[in-house]
Amino acid sequence: MPQRPSDLLLRKQSGQPIVILTAWDALSAAIVCEAGADAVLVGDSLAMTALGHATTLPVTLGEMLHHCRAVGRGLRAEGGGTPFVICDLPFLSYQCSLDEAIAAAGRVLKESPAVAVKLEGAEPETLAAIDRMVRMGIPVMGHLGLTPQSVHRLGFRRQATDPLAQERLSQQALALEARGCFALVVEHIPAALASDLCDRLRIPVIGIGAGDQCDGQVRVTADLLGLTDRQPPFASPLLDGRGLAVEALKEWKRQQRSPAARRAAPATSP
Ligand code: KIV
Repeated sequence: MPQRPSDLLLRKQSGQPIVILTAWDALSAAIVCEAGADAVLVGDSLAMTALGHATTLPVTLGEMLHHCRAVGRGLRAEGGGTPFVICDLPFLSYQCSLDEAIAAAGRVLKESPAVAVKLEGAEPETLAAIDRMVRMGIPVMGHLGLTPQSVHRLGFRRQATDPLAQERLSQQALALEARGCFALVVEHIPAALASDLCDRLRIPVIGIGAGDQCDGQVRVTADLLGLTDRQPPFASPLLDGRGLAVEALKEWKRQQRSPAARRAAPATSP
């Protein structure tokens, strides 16, 4: 079990695929721990999956810290320790100024169990912020391709579909590695580009909707469990979690309303 962000590099070097799952509260954290995730991402996708927003933009740093602390309380030691936690820096917590970016990342490390932050893009300001974070001892994970914080510019579409955009994304990936990111998430990009990045970068490339040739995969756990009604096209659910839960609760309701069940239940029901 990787104990810290830099351990993921050893995983890449030894050819062991990396598995990262998101969590947003203590229950989901316990589940992904028991499932054996290498690391837990408190992604700002929780704005949509847990808070019901249409995009990730509204979630605040305070809310991310609140959810991250809940995730920390749900961590369970499985197979040699607990997975380490990465927390997304939300929209506009790192883009306004360098000082604010460092302060936001610092709050994550000081006020939550996260030991690393993830942020989106590779604009010059973002690269400068990453550079300073890394020098100050804050591990940073990059995120390119479909970057949901730019949804109003990029949409939720597949990214880097033409050669020019692919070259630009490759240059950005190299820049993120040069600034000291310990890993890079690539979302909803062509599989061949993701695979090429795995070869060109020393750091692990973690894919989501980027083919199966990456150094690792990350998924939004609510998508994998089929809990959401906004399933992204690149994340097939493993089960119909929502349907199963609704059916189980309906069945329980039917039982509560049946006279036979009500007679049998008093000893066990509160
Ligand atoms: O917010 C999130 O859950 C993410 C994953 C999609 C990688 O960034």
